[in-house]
Amino acid sequence: MPLDPYSIREDFPLLKNRKVIYFDNAATSQKPRQVIEAIKNFYEQFNANIHRGLHRLSEEASEAYENAHEVVAKFIGAKSYEEIIFVRNTTEALNIVAYAIGLYDLNEGDEIIVTIMEHHSNLLPWYVIAKLRKAKLKIIGLTSDYKLNYEELENTISEKTRVIAVTHMSNVLGTINDVKRIAKLAHEVGAIIVVDGAQSVPHMPVNVSHLDIDFLAFSGHKMLGPTGIGVLYGRKDFLVDLKPILYGGDMIKAVNFNGKSINIKLNDLPWKFEAGSPNIVGAIGLSEAINYLNKIGMENVRAYEESFTRYMLRRIDEELKDYVNIYGPRDVNEKGGIISFNVMNYHPHVIATMLDKYNIAVRSGFHCAQPLHQYLGITQGSVRASLYIYNVREEIDYFIEVLKKIIKELKE
Ligand code: ALA
Repeated sequence: MPLDPYSIREDFPLLKNRKVIYFDNAATSQKPRQVIEAIKNFYEQFNANIHRGLHRLSEEASEAYENAHEVVAKFIGAKSYEEIIFVRNTTEALNIVAYAIGLYDLNEGDEIIVTIMEHHSNLLPWYVIAKLRKAKLKIIGLTSDYKLNYEELENTISEKTRVIAVTHMSNVLGTINDVKRIAKLAHEVGAIIVVDGAQSVPHMPVNVSHLDIDFLAFSGHKMLGPTGIGVLYGRKDFLVDLKPILYGGDMIKAVNFNGKSINIKLNDLPWKFEAGSPNIVGAIGLSEAINYLNKIGMENVRAYEESFTRYMLRRIDEELKDYVNIYGPRDVNEKGGIISFNVMNYHPHVIATMLDKYNIAVRSGFHCAQPLHQYLGITQGSVRASLYIYNVREEIDYFIEVLKKIIKELKE
């Protein structure tokens, strides 16, 4: 059943409390009352630390926290909760993978492949680890229609490739990458594939088993959940052997002292990667957000956003093409609801500030993807409108009218 954005909007208090056209969903999403209530309920009814007490409260909190792992595992098609590691956000997840693999498994001359459309989070950790381990970082470019250059990728992959780190959906262009195809290419040479799912997981069905990927990172706050909770999915075969990079509480089974030195026994999966008191309430909030998305159905989320994006692109093309330059594929089958653009030669911050005066919230700048902008020859950054399930057609109509007014004002 197609989703009904008007009834969905009713669940979002902020959209009622504030007069705003919220088009900054790629930065963070708004939260439904179900998530807000789950967070409140946790603190009011069963707040305790997990895995550390034999009392009932701790057991209830532990159960809810463990259940959140199950909910996430099911949502992304993982085989078990053991493959779900809670972290702070996508950035932390990607850094953990880069350091865990890099420190123990990368050697001089090994190659890491990334793409030019990566967010800094899936570029800089690999850049640093490549320097530390004297490995080579190779950066794949785009085609003229803002898609990944698969030919260049195929020509770059070799027996030396150890890691391919790629975004599933560009946070600037909206380009959806064929990670199943890239996973196959990686596995053919014995490399692993690490996928940044920050923009894809909230907006389309993502199934790690179907895609056959080894690692996936995403954040709760972009998918109706709270900030401060993110997920690192790892294929169990890899996680079993991978060494953690964070050590301390809860990630250890035993620390034995023989009078002179200590030796340690790591905890089971996924706890060996979750050192310290975790973000329990964040995990519970995220699992409630997933319940909310599951009720709508991710196929429906994707279908709605596809038609919505098509509508927005068509309106800009038909009415504003002489003044607005859009960056990203025009084929919505391969694009998410992210529309980055510039208006004439005006600085993106100027346009974003003018839009804000009309209560339209967008992001402007480099969107943590400065090399991508430089590669495309966009010196000042771009304005980005990003959509979600509670945005309605009238908001796009209003946005187009406001853009027309702004252009008129700037031309005068
Ligand atoms: N990574 C987020 C964005 O693209 C914050 O805006």
